Amino acid sequence: MSDLHVVVLGAGKGTRMKSDRPKVLHRVGGIPMIEHVLRTIQPLNPVSATVVVGHMANMLRAALAGWPGLQFALQEPQAGTAHALLQTKRLLEGKAGCVVLLSGDVPLLRTTTIEKLVKVHRQTGAAATILTAIVEQPYGYGRIVKRHGEILRIVEEKDAAPAERRIREVNSGIYAFDLAPLFQGLKQVGTANAQGEYYLTDLVAVYRRERRRIATLPCDDASEIRGINSRAELAEVSRIVNQQRNEALMASGVTLEDPATIYVGPDVAVGPDTVIHPGVHLEGKTTIGSACEIHAGVRIVDSHLADGVTIRNFCVITNARIEGGARVGPFAHIRPESGVGPGAHIGNFVELKKAIIGAGAKANHLTYLGDVTVGAKANVGAGTITCNYDGERKHQTVIEAGAFIGSGTELVAPVRVGRDAYVAAGSTITEDVPPGSLAIARGRQVNKAGWADKRKGS
Ligand code: UD1
Ligand code: CA
Repeated sequence: MSDLHVVVLGAGKGTRMKSDRPKVLHRVGGIPMIEHVLRTIQPLNPVSATVVVGHMANMLRAALAGWPGLQFALQEPQAGTAHALLQTKRLLEGKAGCVVLLSGDVPLLRTTTIEKLVKVHRQTGAAATILTAIVEQPYGYGRIVKRHGEILRIVEEKDAAPAERRIREVNSGIYAFDLAPLFQGLKQVGTANAQGEYYLTDLVAVYRRERRRIATLPCDDASEIRGINSRAELAEVSRIVNQQRNEALMASGVTLEDPATIYVGPDVAVGPDTVIHPGVHLEGKTTIGSACEIHAGVRIVDSHLADGVTIRNFCVITNARIEGGARVGPFAHIRPESGVGPGAHIGNFVELKKAIIGAGAKANHLTYLGDVTVGAKANVGAGTITCNYDGERKHQTVIEAGAFIGSGTELVAPVRVGRDAYVAAGSTITEDVPPGSLAIARGRQVNKAGWADKRKGS
């Protein structure tokens, strides 16, 4: 939108969180709460977007470094919300149009609500338009004090008289302001209140003295304006985000067996007819194909699953690709840069790291495969270990197509087992095995007849 600027407040300490990190970086639905706000404004295409940082400013800046075009204004010390907005003066003064002020701790707000706020603001020609909500439990919010339907002032919880505390129309902390009178108005805001801070809400009284027009817009859905000030509110808002995400997934054809226990990040895609069991977490840039089955207690991060994949209970999969029809788990750990080929089977207590498993290959039990490629249809027996690390460097193992690795084999890398070769169970393989041959690398068995009887007799 031309003439539209956005400012997001995120400088406050968030005392009630009792945390060492900035409040707005606490995660909601898998991403920092302030990133929900930044995602909401993206479709509006504002001329500028500024985040006011203060408490642990560098940590917040670093966390948001990936957002192109974002500006930062530093608020030092953090003397209140009016003081915070005043710090954008250098960036915004003299610019035409209006600024939408958002709070980094109000992550449920929708783009359409901001659009409506801006529309009403422009239609009424007000100097300030305040997004409000009628709520059952107004505790903690600033109350909208009105007379004959006209806003007189906003009073904060701590400063409110008992009668004012009963008012159920609350301030969302979200506003549209005309830029022209804004900064001179903010300079007039004082600190005569319970917290000794420069309250942005006092701009209402300033504008009334100057006979400027102030509009209010009640939000259709009061839950959108919920702010997060404590860990309990963090949990409540997270639950709402999760519920909305899961409803969208189910609407797109995904079965969620117990949605309240399933967490799917905002950048995860899941295909239709996939079934997700309880207690599953899908995170980061994960894509899941259609008709997959993901059993209980699985965590998948930054990974790709093709169609028709089955992940059995309690697997952890990170930065990996699982191809169509493959089966993984239960209790498998698929670590970064691994790939499981079409129709391959990775079974219980198997760990893969930088392991590329060919089509239809199997490693079904108690195995570590690191820095390895396994060819199509190869069979890796129970308890096989790639000895990939010599204490300094990692070395590669190659198991070619159709090879059979007997149970309890150690493959001391670098080493190659040729196509269709066999390795006898219990071998320690230190040299390449030519294609089609059998390698036996273990001590020969000696049976001592009568040994036990002799021992008893002594
Ligand atoms: C504020 C409003 C209140 C409203 C509520 C809605 C004021 C005085 N009160 O109260 O009317 O009902 O939001 O959620 O504005 N911040 C700064 N610098 C500061 C202080 C705060 O950047 O010096 C930021 C915080 O990081 C936060 C936002 O401003 O993102 C709101 O601050 P917070 O202290 O949570 O205000 P509330 O008490 O919730
Ligand atoms: Ca707040």
